[in-house]
Amino acid sequence: MSNRPLNVGLVGGGKGAFIAHPHQRAIHFDGTRRVVAGALFPDPKIALEEAASWPYPIRGYGSYDDMIAANASLPEDQKLDYILIVTPNFVHYDPAMKAMKAGIAVFCEKPLCLNLKEASDLVKTSHKLNVPFGVAHTYLGHWTSRLARYIVRAGLLGEVRWVDSYYLQGWLATKLEATGQQQATWRVDPKRAGGSGCGGDIGTHALMQLRYVTGLEITELSAQLETFVEGRQLDDHFTVYCRLNNGARAMVRASQICIGSKNDLGINVFGTKGSLEWKQEEPERLVIRLPNQPDRVYWRGAVTPGDGFIPKDVPSDLMAEPTIPAGHPEAFHDAFARLHRCFEIDVRRWKAGEKFACDGSKYANVEDGWTGLAFIETAVKSSASNGKWTKLPKL
Ligand SMILES: NC(=O)c1ccc[n+]([C@@H]2O[C@H](COP(=O)([O-])OP(=O)(O)OC[C@H]3O[C@@H](n4cnc5c(N)ncnc54)[C@H](O)[C@@H]3O)[C@@H](O)[C@H]2O)c1
Repeated sequence: MSNRPLNVGLVGGGKGAFIAHPHQRAIHFDGTRRVVAGALFPDPKIALEEAASWPYPIRGYGSYDDMIAANASLPEDQKLDYILIVTPNFVHYDPAMKAMKAGIAVFCEKPLCLNLKEASDLVKTSHKLNVPFGVAHTYLGHWTSRLARYIVRAGLLGEVRWVDSYYLQGWLATKLEATGQQQATWRVDPKRAGGSGCGGDIGTHALMQLRYVTGLEITELSAQLETFVEGRQLDDHFTVYCRLNNGARAMVRASQICIGSKNDLGINVFGTKGSLEWKQEEPERLVIRLPNQPDRVYWRGAVTPGDGFIPKDVPSDLMAEPTIPAGHPEAFHDAFARLHRCFEIDVRRWKAGEKFACDGSKYANVEDGWTGLAFIETAVKSSASNGKWTKLPKL
């Protein structure tokens, strides 16, 4: 394919949508990807109106079915290279499946879909059709998450013993859904959100951060899903104690009722030789603590291989990932851009008929999405049995 920018089609994004907007900015970050089309709203008339008033010209469609069907007859330079699914969880599976079958790559919001059955179908289809599939676990896109992954997986903290991975928010501490607030209403509805509210929405991010940084998998868990706000159907507080496949233990916890907490996602990893602390609200820094030594604070853009902790042979692809100089802060949009940038590499390879990675090292893939659903379903089951230790299924 020529070096034209990749063409992206949005599914969702109209009328007060949230996450479509950080994504569309991130898509345009490098000039090598652009949003060209959108099916932005469930009602076809409003979808077309929303597309007509989009901040730059895009082809509007009344539905994602129309957008996917129209793609086949477009000239090559206008065809969609991937779709971005930014709809509520119950509108992930269908557009993802249809896009793959139409030969369009998929970048989908988390959680991957509503349940494990849908997730298994998506994994099978993406393998069978060999289509790139990314899942938008934002926080792996921070350069410091990449550095944390390298440090833990290279064994620089020794053997991992204990991990605390968390995501605390306070925005659902009251019954916000009763006011009709758009993002709250579908998140507390099991038909539109899935089997867990808080766990599915943000517990999956904490899980992904744990798996991405440590490379470890949960084998068994004991969960307590709680609902503090009266009358709410799904959990707003989610606490999971985990056994990991190297014998370590972990806590994956999430809450939406912690008044004052905004997007307090973070991870602490404790190994036999030292520990690591990372917080997404201060994403430019990674703290390393070693016994009887002052804390080491690594800033993105200011890491020197061979400094006595980070070895000289730190992988060159990690050090070469595009960043701006230290102290000019990167944040949420940069993390999204890094995910889209890495997904673009795989989409271009796929389009050229070459082997592409899609291996979870640069962005979460469909198997990671499946693991998120396996985690949620197992946690719901364990909690229903008062926290009984329950094994996770294997893909
Ligand atoms: N990665 C992250 O950090 C992050 C953050 C927030 C939300 N999310 C995920 O993103 C998704 C969307 O969340 P949100 O908060 O942006 O929701 P939202 O309610 O703000 O936006 C959803 C959009 O989807 C549209 N939509 C619904 N059904 C549709 C259909 N059939 N066809 C076309 N458009 C349709 C709505 O009109 C709206 O534009 C969810 O899966 C959520 O879990 C991820």
